[in-house]
Amino acid sequence: MSDRYAVVGNPVAHSRSPSIHAQFAQQTGQDLVYERLFAPLDGFVDTVERFRAAGGRGLNVTVPFKLEAFAWSTRRTARALAAGAVNTLSFRDDGVHGDNTDGAGLVRDLEGRLGFVLAGARVLMLGAGGAARGVLAPLLGAGVERLVIANRTVSRALELAALARDARASGCGFDAVRVDGAPFDLVLNATSAGLDDAAPQVERLVYDGVRLAYDMLYGARPTAFMREAAAGGCAAVSDGLGMLVEQAAESFFVWRGIRPQTGPVHSRLREELGAQA
Ligand code: ATR
Repeated sequence: MSDRYAVVGNPVAHSRSPSIHAQFAQQTGQDLVYERLFAPLDGFVDTVERFRAAGGRGLNVTVPFKLEAFAWSTRRTARALAAGAVNTLSFRDDGVHGDNTDGAGLVRDLEGRLGFVLAGARVLMLGAGGAARGVLAPLLGAGVERLVIANRTVSRALELAALARDARASGCGFDAVRVDGAPFDLVLNATSAGLDDAAPQVERLVYDGVRLAYDMLYGARPTAFMREAAAGGCAAVSDGLGMLVEQAAESFFVWRGIRPQTGPVHSRLREELGAQA
C-alpha cells in the first residue's frame, strides 16, 4: 500500500499541496498518496490521531492549526522552536516530530529561483504575526545585515524583534520606517493585508530604489503590495508562489529524504493560476 500523507486545515479545500506533492512523487518515483484532511476547529487532535491510527505517515498543517500542531508534537526541530509553529508533522516510531519548513522555503525561493543574495542585505519586513515569526530566524541565519520589522501594531513589532535576540533586528511602526541614506535591498510583506486586497500602509517612498519587493501571499494577479511597490519605484516584485512550492519541497525532503525539482512544479502552478485570472 502507498504511504499516506495529507494537508490538514480549516478550510482546506483550496489547498494546492495535494497537486504539488503528487507532482513531486511522480517526478521522484515515490509511492505515496497525498490527500486533504478537513478538521473541525475544535477537533484538530482527534482528526490527526485518526489519520495516524489509519497508517498516515505525515501531515502538512495549515491555517489555523500551526500552533496546535506545535503544542501536540512530542519532538520539535530547532526551526520549529524558532518559529513557535509547526507546518510539517512526521509520525515516527519515537513520536510525533514537528518541523517548520516555511522559512527555509522563503530563503530557497529568494536565493535559488530569484537569485537574491541575502548575505549582507538590508531587509524591511512588514508584519509581525505568525508568518513573520516563521521566517525571522531563517533570514537572520542567511546573513542579512539588517532586519527592520515594521507593523501596524507597533508593540508586536517590538516584541518580535526582541524575540530574535539579535542586534541586527529592530522593530517599529509603519510610520517610523525611515530610509536613511541607501534604500532597503529587500522589502518582504508578511502581513495578511493582501487577503483584503490591501497593501500595508507604509510611505511609497520606502520602495524607491529597492531591489526586490516580495509578497509572501500569492494570487492569480499581482497583489496590492506588489502593485504599490512597483509604483513606488521598486526594481522587481514577486509573489509567494515560489515559497509555497519550496516549503512543500522541504517537507517532502523531511519525509522522503529526496529533494524534488521545484522549477517545473512552479511553472505549472503559475500557468494554472493564470488560467483562472
Ligand atoms: P499570520 O499568521 O498570517 O501572520 P497573524 O498572526 O494574525 O496572521 O498576523 C497578521 C499580520 O498582518 C499582523 O502583522 C497584522 O498587523 P497587526 O499586528 O497590526 O494586526 C497584519 N495585518 C493584517 N491586516 C493588515 C492590514 N490591513 N494592514 C496592515 N497590516 C495588516
